[in-house]
Amino acid sequence: MTAKRARSFITLAAWSADELLELLSRAQELKRLHHKGEGPQTLRGRTLAMYFEKPSLRTHVTFEAGMTQLGGHAILLRPEQVGIGTRESPRDVARGLSRWVHGIMARTFSHALVEQLAEEASIPVINGLTDLLHPCQAMADLQTISEKMDPKEATLAYVGDGNNVANSLVLLAALIGFRIRLGTPASHPVSARILRLAEGLARTSGAEIAWSEDPVEAIRGVDFVYTDTWTSMGQEEEAATRRKVFAPYQVNSALLEHCPDAWVLHCMPAHRGEEITDEILDGPRSLVFDQAENRLHTQKAILERLMR
Ligand code: NVA
Repeated sequence: MTAKRARSFITLAAWSADELLELLSRAQELKRLHHKGEGPQTLRGRTLAMYFEKPSLRTHVTFEAGMTQLGGHAILLRPEQVGIGTRESPRDVARGLSRWVHGIMARTFSHALVEQLAEEASIPVINGLTDLLHPCQAMADLQTISEKMDPKEATLAYVGDGNNVANSLVLLAALIGFRIRLGTPASHPVSARILRLAEGLARTSGAEIAWSEDPVEAIRGVDFVYTDTWTSMGQEEEAATRRKVFAPYQVNSALLEHCPDAWVLHCMPAHRGEEITDEILDGPRSLVFDQAENRLHTQKAILERLMR
């Protein structure tokens, strides 16, 4: 008999705009409480298993600290210990964990693996980044945008590689209903499948999704300019080629002259001097450490929503 499946957080597309805005509102409340030194003990006695196939600073620390702050506990699992797919099947791992803990957070190369864990587990699974999507980052970005303006009124340009972060931002824009302009080379677009899905969602929300190969056209007059590494985890062998392809997409002071009032976003880690210059990353328009902080608050809201 298959156990009843819990609600998971694998892709934003499985959540409605109202639900995402409820999560945002709870994240805002949790941030206020955190700054007052208060932590509601909503997950007392609950345990999260965290599985990382790729390196992590922000995701690891914010999920583990988030669980502690909510009165719960997190366990770090490394692939060399667990061996999903080598030592044990995804199904057996998911079924075992479902008997011991209350949630799984997984960062994997394959998006299908996170989906499979969610299929097989009877506890919630949270996507902590896959090659395809990074939904927790997008929720922290939503909170960061909301601290400057009504997200529905925002225009955001994403410049650089059409990667997991870009894919999740397109879904976020499509659901919430803000304008997103993608400035990516034709050779490195966002996922065609995600774009089709987002265009369908945008018909309901009124979001506008535009693409240009010209970074200047993409960023002209926007409220937010977002960039991410040109070489995502797992693509290190392509780094030299990627540096050439993406060179015109560097976020620097010359490019930002075309959007003088824009805030700058980056999910980090940054490759300083590649996709973004020190001057911009450390400058007054940069919101990158607000984004990093908001990972904590938005993920606590997600953990509460799924594991309470
Ligand atoms: N696109 C980057 C995001 C890192 C948080 C990567 O996948 O490596």
